[in-house]
Amino acid sequence: MAKLITLVGAVDRKPEELLRAAGMHVSAIADSALGVLASPSAKQPDVLIVDLRQSPVVSPTVGLLRRNHPNTGVMIIASGLDPALLVDAMRAGVTEVVAEPFTQEDLESAVHRVSAQNVGVALGQVIGFIGAKGGVGTTTVAVNVATMLGPMGKPGRTLLMDLHQSGGDAAVFMGVEPRFSVVDAIENSHRLDQNFLKTLVTTVTGQTDLLASPERPSAGRLDAIKTRRVIELASSAYAHTVIDLPRSDVTVLDALEQLKAVYIVANQELATVRSATRVAGMLRERYGRDKVGVVLTRSDRQADIGHADVEKAIGLPVAHTFPSDYRIALQALNKGRPLALDNHNDLSASFKRFAYQLSGERPDRVSSRGLFKRLRG
Ligand SMILES: Nc1ncnc2c1ncn2[C@@H]1O[C@H](COP(=O)(O)OP(=O)(O)O)[C@@H](O)[C@H]1O
Ligand SMILES: [Mg+2]
Repeated sequence: MAKLITLVGAVDRKPEELLRAAGMHVSAIADSALGVLASPSAKQPDVLIVDLRQSPVVSPTVGLLRRNHPNTGVMIIASGLDPALLVDAMRAGVTEVVAEPFTQEDLESAVHRVSAQNVGVALGQVIGFIGAKGGVGTTTVAVNVATMLGPMGKPGRTLLMDLHQSGGDAAVFMGVEPRFSVVDAIENSHRLDQNFLKTLVTTVTGQTDLLASPERPSAGRLDAIKTRRVIELASSAYAHTVIDLPRSDVTVLDALEQLKAVYIVANQELATVRSATRVAGMLRERYGRDKVGVVLTRSDRQADIGHADVEKAIGLPVAHTFPSDYRIALQALNKGRPLALDNHNDLSASFKRFAYQLSGERPDRVSSRGLFKRLRG
């Protein structure tokens, strides 16, 4: 079927003519009409194209439209690849940029990529964990939450994405040796689809896959637009995507528009709390207060710094607290088996509770469903 394109604020007739020549239905509207299109009940085109060749500023209405209509693909036409514009575009949820000089083929393939990402896609839930400091237990939380979310919620598997460009150790925690990595996915993002993604992941438990950090450090920095595309694709292929986020990679921190929530993993140490406060400020500025949360790990009731102090300092409520159990955490790491798979300890139960909280599923519903399955053999 011919694609329906809405073209906003075109500065000349070139894009419209090229799109029509490619067999698409184009309706051109003025910048001022974008607000109406962004309203929750407005009928959507397949792809919205915003012409920013004359004024390279992304209107906040574009971000609003993406939030109200996550299945509408949005791309922009720019006079050049200005990095500031690219970052603004990305934060607004734009997934393709076509720069001058462009051809019919450039526009056509960008439209196809945008609509392939968005048409009929049920977006799964994406959750990130970022450590306030190294060694606080971020990977432990990400690995165990992903393991527990695996069989929960809507049909569909869970993906753990280790976004460390080098030295990520989620694979060690899960006892697997992946052949491919998240860098393979990012470098091939222009041709990545759900099937290709499935060939890059490693199955770790019944319902959980891992897209691992590369074995060897890769050259060059990760590209935020490509990283973001991989996250979007993961969210279309998995019911839950859990991301182990690197703290020091600003590019990655610019690619998290798709995330439902980012949790800062902290403990009750002074330096960690101070660092968590900085990370929280940075994330809140980019994604708004509602998306950012804190979880405390290796919790200690006797600590001088209590939960209320942490909440006050960071300015965010503590969403969950994981107890401290060094022996069990270390044993699991040595075995390469997520500790949440083994019952009968407080830490494992705590991961399970948090996963229920994230999935919105009630524990009793899950267990009765399990019981029903067992009754039927
Ligand atoms: N709740 C916990 N209680 C005790 N030790 C923990 C806990 N969570 C993690 N650890 C231990 O802390 C160390 C660092 O954990 P890791 O998840 O790799 O941290 P990060 O990813 O933040 O660097 C590991 O030895 C791990 O076993
Ligand atoms: Mg880690």
